[in-house]
Amino acid sequence: MKRIAICPGSFDPITNGHLDIIERAAPIFDEIIVAVLNNSSKQPLFSVKERMELISEVTEHLPHIKVDSFDGLLVDYAAEVGANAIVRGLRAVSDFEYEMQVASINKKMNDQIETLFMMTNNQYSFLSSSIVKEAAKYGASVAGLVPPVVEEALRHKYSKGELK
Ligand code: PNS
Repeated sequence: MKRIAICPGSFDPITNGHLDIIERAAPIFDEIIVAVLNNSSKQPLFSVKERMELISEVTEHLPHIKVDSFDGLLVDYAAEVGANAIVRGLRAVSDFEYEMQVASINKKMNDQIETLFMMTNNQYSFLSSSIVKEAAKYGASVAGLVPPVVEEALRHKYSKGELK
């Protein structure tokens, strides 16, 4: 059986913390699908297409990576693409409560799909897409927090006067 894992998220935009998890999960599975949630109730900075393009660029060096988007329930999407695992990064204890709730309901909805947690590398334990956007919006450097191509994309967005 092919071991397929999904790394799901909003990725608005992808950070070095996300990339670290994807890079570490990649050798464990035959295929990784990085799946961007297409959530119409949120007002993202980057469109789903832009987010997928950025992810594709920064994961180019990894074999067996597919970039996709989904809406609706993650477990339904996982079943549709034949994935048997969901990989999520945990930055701190504060992430655990919410992640455990989601993993539990996902397990209840489809017990064929396992959720695996990986500890985020210590150097990224404070990092989130929201923090990165906040810093970039006010002109602070986000070098080392996101890949250079994402840094450039953020600069471009905010130079156009985006307020998100
Ligand atoms: O990067 P994020 O925003 O922390 O990612 C959250 C995500 C996309 C993994 C989560 O919100 C999700 O799976 N959403 C799809 C709807 C769903 O299945 N919710 C959980 C069970 S109700």
